[in-house]
Amino acid sequence: MATSVIQLKVGNMENFVYIVFDRRTKQAALIDSGWETKPIKKELEEKGLKLLYAIATHEHFDHISSLEDIAREMNAMTVAHRLSGIGADLIVEDNDKIDLGDSVLQIIHTPGHTPGSICIYDGSNLFTGDTLFIGTCGRTDLPGGSDEQLFNSLRRLMELPDDTVIYPGHDYGPVPYRKMGEEKRLNPVLLARSLSDFRMIP
Ligand SMILES: [Fe+2]
Repeated sequence: MATSVIQLKVGNMENFVYIVFDRRTKQAALIDSGWETKPIKKELEEKGLKLLYAIATHEHFDHISSLEDIAREMNAMTVAHRLSGIGADLIVEDNDKIDLGDSVLQIIHTPGHTPGSICIYDGSNLFTGDTLFIGTCGRTDLPGGSDEQLFNSLRRLMELPDDTVIYPGHDYGPVPYRKMGEEKRLNPVLLARSLSDFRMIP
């Protein structure tokens, strides 16, 4: 595996943000930022990483309040999906690829929590924002949310290899991250076989 992942917990809403970096070149991407820039900058500096991208999984404030600030401070580009409404430097669509040294980040458009939600896949790790949490999934009762879209987005994520590590946007589960294979066995939202089953989950 060519990338390493740093998981950081920020703020008072159990948010996780991530630094994913290419081990050889030390080129890094930030996935969500929360509210602060200091803990993120400290990690980047301590590990000698060069931040190229600050990627928003979606537009909710608890994920992106400091995204623009950290991007400007570190001379990085902000990245977001077209439907997020975020005026990012780089607007991405489904299946777009972002080079990170010897590694590649693939954008997977996963609408449902919001229309412009994305997951980011580096070939081994999947950063799921508020689409998929450990043991549950994102809510669909906020503006732009859709049960049907979220169900379909989750089915699509389940096609990834079972050893893919899921890194969620909030620490809502029994563990901070888990492999897709375990999630498929244990997460009720992935065990739902149909949209009507999915809608019945409390
Ligand atoms: Fe959200």
